[in-house]
Amino acid sequence: MSEREEFIHRFVPGRSSRTLVLLHGTGGTETDLLSLGRALDPDAALLSPRGKVLENGMPRFFRRLAEGVFDEEDLIQRTHELADFISAAAVRYGFKQTELIAVGYSNGANIAASLLLLRPGTFFGAALWRAMVPLVPEKLPDLKGVPVLLAAGEHDPIIPSENVRRLSVLLEQAGADVTLTFEKAGHGLTEATIESTRRWAGEVRSKN
Ligand code: MLT
Repeated sequence: MSEREEFIHRFVPGRSSRTLVLLHGTGGTETDLLSLGRALDPDAALLSPRGKVLENGMPRFFRRLAEGVFDEEDLIQRTHELADFISAAAVRYGFKQTELIAVGYSNGANIAASLLLLRPGTFFGAALWRAMVPLVPEKLPDLKGVPVLLAAGEHDPIIPSENVRRLSVLLEQAGADVTLTFEKAGHGLTEATIESTRRWAGEVRSKN
């Protein structure tokens, strides 16, 4: 792996050929989502990188100018960097990207959405918790049949519901099979988020 492609990360082998890529929120690390990932799919391998950008000491996956206002040039560059890391990790650890599901929270969900839009083929599907439109690509990718869960909070103070609806439309226009849910919750994760994601992941598995 070249230096550009390397991320501090954890890889936990699984008992199946499935892998979850876990992408933490602002201020998180590579260990944050490991137990949630294990709860979502007890048999999957887990790959969990740490975002390389620091905002007042807090790791993130890309720079922002203000809350909800992204540095698009940095976002595009970091999206490609992360896509290259994931592909290199697939070779290093021997997992298949065709069975790779992204699970991202907040900033991690936003870079996962950006990966779907700019580097389709990186994931087989994605569960995005409290995501928003990261950018609008010049050309829509082909996401035909890609399962995407958007788990939004009705009272999320950071992400207006109109924004996650726009993300849903964008992904649907690209052909993705989007499930959009609104919970009685804010930006934080709840038991209901984990439960609906577990159900969604089970349905995705049974269809494939
Ligand atoms: C972001 O910067 O990606 C979003 O504002 C969510 C967050 O990290 O707070």
